[in-house]
Amino acid sequence: MLADDRITLLTDKAAAFRDDCEANTSVPYEDSIVLKNLCYQYMQAQDYALRNVNLTLRKGEKIALVGENGSGKTTLISILSGLLNQYEGTCERNGFIFTSVLQDFGQYQMTVKENIEVGCGGKELSEEAVCDILKKVGLYDFILSKPDGIYTRLGQLEEGVELSKGQWQRLAVGRLLARPEANVWILDEPTAYLDPLAEITMYRTIFDLSGDKTVLFISHRLGFAKNADRILVAAHGNIVEDGTHQSLMNKKDGYYARMYESQREWYA
Ligand SMILES: Nc1ncnc2c1ncn2[C@@H]1O[C@H](COP(=O)(O)OP(=O)(O)O)[C@@H](O)[C@H]1O
Ligand SMILES: [Mg+2]
Repeated sequence: MLADDRITLLTDKAAAFRDDCEANTSVPYEDSIVLKNLCYQYMQAQDYALRNVNLTLRKGEKIALVGENGSGKTTLISILSGLLNQYEGTCERNGFIFTSVLQDFGQYQMTVKENIEVGCGGKELSEEAVCDILKKVGLYDFILSKPDGIYTRLGQLEEGVELSKGQWQRLAVGRLLARPEANVWILDEPTAYLDPLAEITMYRTIFDLSGDKTVLFISHRLGFAKNADRILVAAHGNIVEDGTHQSLMNKKDGYYARMYESQREWYA
């Protein structure tokens, strides 16, 4: 096939998906992120990590993506945020701007201010902007109690101030706020070091701060998902359930209901 033909074909396909999407949702196509027949196979892997994912994420939704380890959650959000490109199928981002805190987010050994500036690609922020962000994530009083304030060096370096796990997490959320033009926040198990109840508190903070942005937050722990507008359950490289907490709990033998029951004691 000639390259031009292929482009025409893809454009036709995109138009067909758009029609499909407009017919199926009340939100305009431009206000959605649309995945169609998305497949992904890592180089040298035997199996596909994603198999034919079809999904529409709407503007402003607060979405929990849950599922066991290895179910494909990180692969999915890596494609969404443009980190993996060699996929099959379609990923229509429609001009949405993403910012993310990933599973292994760096605990950068630099100043507090520089740590926040990582969130906007290292662009310098004003002191006021940094202070404002620190207030929002609840770190202002602690940081300002240090002699160097926002210029306090963090980490185990000589004279560095070590933060607790929870404080590092708050700083990571501060990085999301450093990019105000982003309208999609992705959080891939940024709370892995926290206990399940602290994780819930963390996600509440994120909910409160995100306003009308679209938020996709990922965990294999479910206690926090209750408050999401929508829960997506990943299993074996696909989205196998999609609904609210209550609707998924009503599916007695569903993945979500079973996972929830098995984790119930964590949240007692
Ligand atoms: N870099 C990689 N190379 C090969 N296989 C990978 C790589 N990353 C993930 N996988 C595999 O892809 C599948 C989905 O992984 P992942 O998206 O990380 O799942 P989750 O985030 O839900 O734990 C798993 O089988 C995993 O082993
Ligand atoms: Mg993962």
